[in-house]
Amino acid sequence: MTAEQVTVREGCTDLLVPSGYSSRGPGTRGPSVFYNRQMAFARDVSVMLLRALGPLSAVDCMSAAGSRAVRLANEVQGVHVTANDISAEAYEQIGRNIELNGLKNCDASNMDLACLLAEQRFGYVDLDPFGSPVPFLHAAIKGVERNGVLAVTATDTAPLAGARRDKCERRYMARPLRGPICHEAGLRILMGAVARDLARFDRGMEPLLCFHSDHYFRLHLRVTKGAQRADAMLRRLGWMRYERDSLKRSVSASPEGHPHGPMWLGPLHDRGVLERMEADESLAEPRRCAKALELWSEELDTPICYEVSELSSKLKINPPRMERLLESLRRRGEASRSHVSPTAFRCALPMEDVLDAYREAAGIDNI
Ligand SMILES: C[S@@+](CC[C@H](N)C(=O)[O-])C[C@H]1O[C@@H](n2cnc3c(N)ncnc32)[C@H](O)[C@@H]1O
Repeated sequence: MTAEQVTVREGCTDLLVPSGYSSRGPGTRGPSVFYNRQMAFARDVSVMLLRALGPLSAVDCMSAAGSRAVRLANEVQGVHVTANDISAEAYEQIGRNIELNGLKNCDASNMDLACLLAEQRFGYVDLDPFGSPVPFLHAAIKGVERNGVLAVTATDTAPLAGARRDKCERRYMARPLRGPICHEAGLRILMGAVARDLARFDRGMEPLLCFHSDHYFRLHLRVTKGAQRADAMLRRLGWMRYERDSLKRSVSASPEGHPHGPMWLGPLHDRGVLERMEADESLAEPRRCAKALELWSEELDTPICYEVSELSSKLKINPPRMERLLESLRRRGEASRSHVSPTAFRCALPMEDVLDAYREAAGIDNI
């Protein structure tokens, strides 16, 4: 072991990583091989998902130190994992981590992912770049087997969530939304961009689990084959309207009067898959995983969501407790929390009903 290396334990796996590793935020490209402790939760999710999907061949296209690939090989039964990275130092580090965990079902690879995926297809393809996944999407799509799974990380939250509108328009060919629901829109814009790329190859997608957390968006998509599936997928894309003063929001299949998008308007998760995922004690962050599974399973599919702060400022009342607010909304129709923010809720009721429910939950009589 060189002087700058430390061994950390994540889940049931030991990982040899540079001692100055990132523990918060997106991390940055640096001279040493990349490892970010904060992404342990996202790697836990990969472990839970692959355990639920059953035996398959997986490729972690951008492995860096091999943290995800080595964890998958070590913690999921029946998988074979290729841990790839274009960097020679990363490749060596991956090799050390495979050896450290005594793995026979994990191979290190040192290729440009586009070359690797032109030669070989996998049941699970994972893209985890610095920033945007857009430059790598075509190659990744080609590398997914029929009905395989594509997993994508995006850490370029500023463009996707509307802080850099110009960049979002260039990269994702979509107009983002600034304001309280910017991360919901950002997640769906990313999904919409992947869907449009899939359609070019006559592929469709079924979201298994797509979420926003910390400083990143993460998608897990079943990739289906055929022009009809691609067309059906494209019909689930649309645009959003958000009126700052009235707080009204709506979605439409056409951009007319709905300037934000295109974005995916279908479900974010597959509840059947979520039910099979288990947050057991072997994970790095089992309690956080259990809470997230509960939240993802319970949230409604609607893209219409609100932050309590915007309702409180409009009505000039203190926010009610979330449980009370949900009860009050549910007396009028369907409502749920949103995983995107602990102070947000999903609800497709008419605006007047939402405002009435909010006043009721806050103990203010309707006038
Ligand atoms: C954000 S890091 C990956 C983090 C890693 N997945 C983890 O969980 O710790 C991005 C990695 O992608 C690698 N990379 C960049 N371009 C690549 C390419 N075209 N093919 C393969 N790897 C690439 C970089 O060398 C870097 O190690």
